[in-house]
Amino acid sequence: MQAISVGLLGLGTVGSGVVQIIENHQDKLMHQVGCPLKVKKILVKDPVKERAVKVDPSLLTVNPADVMEDPEIDVVIEVMGGIEHTREHLLDALKKKKHVVTANKDLMAVHGSELLTAAQENGCDLFFEASVAGGIPILRSLVDGLASDRITKMMGIVNGTTNFILTKMSQEGLAYEDVLKEAQRLGYAEANPASDVDGVDAARKMAIMASLGFSMKIDLEDVKSKGITSITEEDLKYGKQLGYTMKLLGIAEREGDKVEISVEPALLPSSHPLASVNNEYNAVYVYGEAVGETMFYGPGAGSLPTATAVVSDLVGVVKNMRLGVNGRSSVSPQYEKQLKDDGEIHSKYFLRLHVHDEVGVFSEITSLFSKHGVSFEKILQMPLKAKELSEIVVVTHQASLKDYQTILMELRDLRVVKDIKSSYRVEGSVSA
Ligand code: NAP
Ligand code: HSE
Repeated sequence: MQAISVGLLGLGTVGSGVVQIIENHQDKLMHQVGCPLKVKKILVKDPVKERAVKVDPSLLTVNPADVMEDPEIDVVIEVMGGIEHTREHLLDALKKKKHVVTANKDLMAVHGSELLTAAQENGCDLFFEASVAGGIPILRSLVDGLASDRITKMMGIVNGTTNFILTKMSQEGLAYEDVLKEAQRLGYAEANPASDVDGVDAARKMAIMASLGFSMKIDLEDVKSKGITSITEEDLKYGKQLGYTMKLLGIAEREGDKVEISVEPALLPSSHPLASVNNEYNAVYVYGEAVGETMFYGPGAGSLPTATAVVSDLVGVVKNMRLGVNGRSSVSPQYEKQLKDDGEIHSKYFLRLHVHDEVGVFSEITSLFSKHGVSFEKILQMPLKAKELSEIVVVTHQASLKDYQTILMELRDLRVVKDIKSSYRVEGSVSA
């Protein structure tokens, strides 16, 4: 029973979890794959640094060749992050017939097709479950569990850091910067947390998820994305008052042959199941024509949850090795990508305005909306401290993005409108 040797690239938050799971669950893993799994080399930047997990110092190296050139290493697990140099390492590993498991959504969202092609050409597996929603097995569920269905919508909270920040800001009234620091301390945030808070991390995950769920090659550029940095206390407060909870939401929707994919702060009815997904937890709602609604929930970041997905991929690789079927599980996209234009994207919208407090203001605003066929579902109006101004918050009925953008442009030109303070998509009745 010869051991399967693994080369680990990275021993940070996720890498430490991988070492722990391989050690602590060795019996179960052996039972699954029929042989021991052993970490043979670990690539790091700083070999003398204090680690969250104890490893034999002789396993550590700063030389990638110690992993790539070792013929005994069958599987490379990449948990170091980065894009271009990491792509080089993984292409090199695949050329050397080493299977690859990665948690790297930055890389997969940009170079996923190239790497999957290289894997297929070399008869290797390339698995990346941990790249989306940490410990939730969402990619396998889309590809295998729902293989027989036609998926029409995926809506998810796929970034733990921003969900942690929004939860603490809205439930505990904590300041944005303080919560972000805490998320970094807990290992949820990326090395550069700008990609979390600007929505880029979630956009990468949505590109990966939409590619698999819709069986189309979705590129990162196809995902319209916006982060959480401009959300204010007032937005959270008025949202709550109107019965909504703010989430950074990834939305991927298919109508006929066309799709839309976005990441943006959106308001959900507080009774919606996604609205109660708090802290670093992630959740993905998936709608299939046959299955209807499904929801996947769990920790979207952190050492052991993410490492669970990584090591489960490793189990998949080793099972395929036993069966001699590596490199055959990925299916190429079935459909040509067709993106919806702004006239084909429909939603409700939350809009907060400061207006001059004078007679006829409200009717001027309503006429502008009704000229474009858009009506209001909810309205709030409050005087502001500055006596001559008042605040108006509306939630519209369904409108096309194109009409809504025209309305915003025309509102800016209205003399009675002092300022458009904020605007958000409002998503989801409880069943959608
Ligand atoms: P991390 O804590 O920053 O760890 C990165 C590790 O890689 C460190 O051990 C570092 O070495 C090593 N490393 C980085 N660049 C290197 C280089 N050029 N050469 C050699 N070693 C290098 O990162 P992480 O949070 O574990 O994330 C790893 C990957 O998993 C990323 O792609 C991330 O997006 C993804 N991911 C993370 C989470 C999470 O919850 N953290 C969840 C899902 C996916 P030193 O230790 O010596 O500095
Ligand atoms: N920074 C990411 C998050 C880690 O907060 O969700 C998991 O991909």
